[in-house]
Amino acid sequence: MEQYRKTIAGAIAETGVIDPAEAELLLEFPPDASMGDFAFPCFTLARRLKQPPHSIAETLAAKLDGVHLFSKVTSVGPYVNFTISRPLLAQEVLSSVLGEEVEYGHSDTGNGKVVVIDFSSPNIAKPFSVGHLRSTVIGGALGRIYKSQGYEVVGINHLGDWGTQFGKLIAAFKRWGSREQLRAQPVSHLLEIYVKFHREAEKEPALEEEGRLWFKRLEEGNEDARLLWEQFRDLSLEEFRRIYSLLSVEFEHFHGESFYNDKLNEAIKVLENKGLIKESQGALVVDLGEEMPPCMLKKQDGATLYATREIAAAIYRYGQYQFEKMLYVVGADQSLHFKQVFAVLELMGFEWAEKCEHVPFGLIRFEDGKMSTRQGKVVLLEEVLNKAIDLSLDIIKQKNPGLEQKEKVARQIGIGAVIFADLANDRIKDVEFEWEKVLDFSGDTAPYIQYAHARICSILRKEQPWEKTVPGEIYSSPEEERLLVSLSRFPAAVSRSLELNKPSVLARYLLDLARDFNHFYHNCPVLQAEAGLRNARLLLAMAVRVVLARGLRLLGIAAPEEM
Ligand code: ARG
Repeated sequence: MEQYRKTIAGAIAETGVIDPAEAELLLEFPPDASMGDFAFPCFTLARRLKQPPHSIAETLAAKLDGVHLFSKVTSVGPYVNFTISRPLLAQEVLSSVLGEEVEYGHSDTGNGKVVVIDFSSPNIAKPFSVGHLRSTVIGGALGRIYKSQGYEVVGINHLGDWGTQFGKLIAAFKRWGSREQLRAQPVSHLLEIYVKFHREAEKEPALEEEGRLWFKRLEEGNEDARLLWEQFRDLSLEEFRRIYSLLSVEFEHFHGESFYNDKLNEAIKVLENKGLIKESQGALVVDLGEEMPPCMLKKQDGATLYATREIAAAIYRYGQYQFEKMLYVVGADQSLHFKQVFAVLELMGFEWAEKCEHVPFGLIRFEDGKMSTRQGKVVLLEEVLNKAIDLSLDIIKQKNPGLEQKEKVARQIGIGAVIFADLANDRIKDVEFEWEKVLDFSGDTAPYIQYAHARICSILRKEQPWEKTVPGEIYSSPEEERLLVSLSRFPAAVSRSLELNKPSVLARYLLDLARDFNHFYHNCPVLQAEAGLRNARLLLAMAVRVVLARGLRLLGIAAPEEM
């Protein structure tokens, strides 16, 4: 679609008050496809030319109508709307989707730039809950999307492996821990004693103090504490890795909070030298003005905090990567934490502080309410994934008993459904997780998209297009036109997802494309059409298959060929 945008921008630049690059940035998609493929708003020109926007729109439309790339150029109020000539659009779209030079939807805008994505980041010694699912799938999808636009992506798992809770855990293990159970079922045993600790601490407040002490010892390098902690960490990581492999998510680094332990004092020293640190009842804090509470860096007893490690981590990462952006994919409940941390980095004089961005998201809710580790009420991600796989297997057995490799496909559908249930929502909204909806083959789900993809694979198994180019005029139905327009918008959906850090834009796009394909398929016979048209429609279906599979892959979802 490059050449259309460039042509429009070039023609608009002839007004002499805007350059082509700026004009191109202003181009929009009209809200309704029947209005055209691009819209140019004339407000900026109006200000510069001191003329009303609608009269500029009229003049531009009159001038551009007749350029051979467009079948229609009209003005609607302050906008100029462009409709690309359909035969040209068809050729352009099919050759870019099916052409082999560059992968369709790929771009090199990010070449030479690094994006650090801090995501997933569960807490060791606690089960990997569905709460961490969101960060894992959103962060994973963003990583793939950035890579597709040429960025170098550094995915970091900022494991919660340090903090006062480990003092409590060690105290709990000293009292009630069993080495045998730890070996057999590490995370659930640790959860059990952690929950017990909180229950008992209500009756026996001295326990809290005991936990605090153990953390202090751990920070001071006490051997006994250290060995237990290491064991908790290694055993937890083993469990987490199992889940990452189910979800096909990878990280460049597993640098947990503890990784920054030897970098904390330096950061604190910089703050001290700048006179930014204040003592408050024995604790060290940085004042952040009226708008936010101060950021605490050391407690009275000298123990460091989550924020202390966060600040040291950011400084270390910038030193390593000179990133263009650093995204923290973390729940919205930590918004204040990131606001404080970014404010401290700014006070420290780091210009790159503005490259740090919190990418927040809402809660995920099951019918039985939000989960909290403290009360031991957690929904385990692994259980959810396994249930999704089992349910998918049941559905496959009913719908397609003859299918080969049922288990493999059930895994692709089940896991895809869970990932998509998360990604299809604007991330800031809470997700209501209902099994029936998530696995509904005709709903707004991954299986719906996967099914459209599998259906195309099945058509193409019967017959392949034998000509790779077709006269664009051959597509004459509204369903074909719609499908071509949808296909043309894939690159924009990917880059919009990146701009907003919202994989939901791409997820929604794929639903629309699958839906447009189904309309086409119901209204336009493919295998029954006469030869020329049959070939043209096979090509169109093939292009849809490519885009669906590519889009799903960016989201981390497989596209089985049969289901
Ligand atoms: N471990 C934290 C939690 O589970 C999330 C860490 C997110 N990343 C970060 N750099 N703070 O709440």
